[in-house]
Amino acid sequence: MKEIINVEVRTRKTELSKCETDVLAVGMLSGVTRLDKTVRELDSKLDGAIEKLIELGDFKGKEGSSEIIYGNEQIGAKRVLLVGLGEKKKATLDTIRKAAAAAANKAVSLKSKSIAMALHQQMGRKFDAKKVGQAIAEGAYFGSYRYDEFVTESENGRAKSLAVEVIDFDAAAVRKVDKGVKIGSVIGRAQSFGRTIANRPGNVINPPALAAVAKKMAKETTGLSCTVFDEKELEQKKMGGILAVGGGSASKPRLIILKYSPSGKRSAKLPTVGLVGKAVTFDAGGINVKPAMGMQDMKFDKSGGVAVLATMKAVAELGLPLNVYGIIPSAENMPSGGSYRPGDIITTFSGKTVEVQNTDAEGRIILCDALHYAVSQKCDIIVDIATLTGACMVALGRYYAGLMGNDEKMIKQLQKTGQASGEKVWPMPSGDEYAEEMKSKIADLKNIGSKWGGACTAAAFLGQFVGEVKWAHIDMDGDMFGGGEAFERAGSRGFGVRLLTSYLMQLAEK
Ligand code: BES
Ligand code: MN
Ligand code: ZN
Repeated sequence: MKEIINVEVRTRKTELSKCETDVLAVGMLSGVTRLDKTVRELDSKLDGAIEKLIELGDFKGKEGSSEIIYGNEQIGAKRVLLVGLGEKKKATLDTIRKAAAAAANKAVSLKSKSIAMALHQQMGRKFDAKKVGQAIAEGAYFGSYRYDEFVTESENGRAKSLAVEVIDFDAAAVRKVDKGVKIGSVIGRAQSFGRTIANRPGNVINPPALAAVAKKMAKETTGLSCTVFDEKELEQKKMGGILAVGGGSASKPRLIILKYSPSGKRSAKLPTVGLVGKAVTFDAGGINVKPAMGMQDMKFDKSGGVAVLATMKAVAELGLPLNVYGIIPSAENMPSGGSYRPGDIITTFSGKTVEVQNTDAEGRIILCDALHYAVSQKCDIIVDIATLTGACMVALGRYYAGLMGNDEKMIKQLQKTGQASGEKVWPMPSGDEYAEEMKSKIADLKNIGSKWGGACTAAAFLGQFVGEVKWAHIDMDGDMFGGGEAFERAGSRGFGVRLLTSYLMQLAEK
């Protein structure tokens, strides 16, 4: 199998015209008629080609647009790629991240081996230089990513590696940007790792295979340990939810538990955070089998668990001063003679009983065992992330994931972090009215509510298993398939890795 592209991001002090590279990416704001000094100097060596492009209206600096100008013997770069940043007043860190992603994507499509990025200069001092470095590095990883490990015959090959340089003519700026680039590279690499695992199909990643990936990753990462409960241990611990959902598959279910502490051992002085992620390696719906249309996309039903897995890698590599648990319940939801049935009553790990009214509402049934496990490990804060409901996608579309929970402060903080990380979340209700709908006549709870508000009732169900612990829930289905731009079509976007890691970085600062 092909390895994913090897990306290295560095910083360098150099002038635009002198920079030797395959692609020199230069960020340009819209509505600017006069080039600034550094770009003007480059343009004079290009015989005014940039100015001409702008004058003719061929390039307007619109966000998402780009234009190539070929280099000459007067400049170091083989190509100059103008990258639109849109209006300065609308720009956020995500604008810079997206520009870096677009540039890196272009470089890979051109089969280039190196790219230099001068994307942030036009923003002046609008953003903190360290944050800018982080965003550019994250974007570089994101945009260069391709999922092609199974493609053996391709006309659209790519280079094995991409060397990225973030350049600036100011030495002090370079130093600050460099600090952020180091952080962004850790996060970007973790996200690309996650995307590959999420993109692997159901015949490659089943619950035991996912557990093996987690074990290997933990072994290679300082500060991380990994324990896996197999079907026998799940039985002993009475994790009836995970066992029920996994019953229909020839691949047995697992509970994957990753632990991180700075010293490798849980510290009483530091807060303990539990990250819980749904990893249904394939969701056929079970006995309530899904319709054929789009069922192949249900290999992405492990994306929440993969986001947790990749976030644990990033957190450990960053050495954050926190105790973090990554708890990943994993099952394959298949129809067979071993499957759980509509009407079954399951006793979950918490002792609460659940009447199954639809076997396709399986995410909440594996998550409730994992949430209770997080509570039993005395986590102070719990965040879960799951491709939980189609209803959330109906409510929010592709641009935001749903955000529910029992703590206003956490919700606000996550929402803010979502904006800055470019992995956006939007608050939705999940209070008592919704919880009321989840009560069963013959058990403590049932696993589906009424016809309406499916994302909210699902969240309210999960809320029954966290007790008094501060908890937030991210329903990420609206975001898992990626969208319009070419580089986004590589399947999984690794949603959640930037959001969760940034959130933990903020917790660690306090
Ligand atoms: N994994 C699905 C949710 C999903 C579906 C996410 C499509 C993204 C795209 C989940 O297990 C599911 O099947 N949910 C059902 C719940 C219903 C039976 C109450 C749904 O959303 O239809
Ligand atoms: Mn389902
Ligand atoms: Zn599912």
